[in-house]
Amino acid sequence: MTLEVIDQTPLIGSEIKTDLDTLLSGAEAQTIRAILDRRGVIFFRGLAISDEQQVTIARTLGDIVDSEGDGGIYKISLDQGVNERAKYLQGSLFWHVDGSLQPRPNLGALLRALRLADSGGDTEFCNTYAAYDALPEDEKRAIEPLRVIHSAERSQYYVTPEMSFEEIEFWQGYPTKSCPLVWTHASGRKSLLLGSTCDYVEGLSVEESRALLARLRDWATQPRFVYRHRWQVGDLLIWSNTGTMHRALPYAADSGRLMHRTILAGEEPLH
Ligand code: SIN
Repeated sequence: MTLEVIDQTPLIGSEIKTDLDTLLSGAEAQTIRAILDRRGVIFFRGLAISDEQQVTIARTLGDIVDSEGDGGIYKISLDQGVNERAKYLQGSLFWHVDGSLQPRPNLGALLRALRLADSGGDTEFCNTYAAYDALPEDEKRAIEPLRVIHSAERSQYYVTPEMSFEEIEFWQGYPTKSCPLVWTHASGRKSLLLGSTCDYVEGLSVEESRALLARLRDWATQPRFVYRHRWQVGDLLIWSNTGTMHRALPYAADSGRLMHRTILAGEEPLH
């Protein structure tokens, strides 16, 4: 079966209709990767995919990070009884990029819906290539040389605004990282690198830095750059982590919402 691609918005998000054998065989993997790179987010619906099959599909697309979770499957839930790192996962409710502190941020991730919340729990993605491309040329020139310090500590203030000294000490144990505000990729394309780990812009005052980061985040998350995925049980969604930011919309910790995630290892250095 060939792939039928149905774009969900002009700039981001496509459903791909195909059959499970095609996905498992990897026969269309290069085409799927190209669509993922172009559209930022893709999803498959109605295919009754198992955990094992999810990992097989992921391996056709790249290397997986199997240190996380069980056999390449990590449970995303805000319920402490399901995932002991549930509090940390509350950070997923704020715009972020996965692994911006790593030398090579994750290429992407596969997310499969096992159970949904009665209300809330959609996931939003914004296309950070398109957001960069649409900036006025003088703004592109102004921000091109800027670098941003990313920190794990900063991202935790979204979850726990009044952290204790011990909590701050813990999160400061993770080294910070200086990253370009405009990420020039191996392909030559450029994207905005933003998200909840952004602490401050090197060389700017605290006020200027906060204002610029908030203004660019607001710019990048305008409706025209955003795809909102309204989950159905069984959906398998894949996002490009190097060309998007994402966040889950709020849902109750005891809602039962459960996603299984498989991470595609980073391929592109970020320095
Ligand atoms: C994530 O940020 O990795 C999870 C997003 C979601 O739960 O929808």
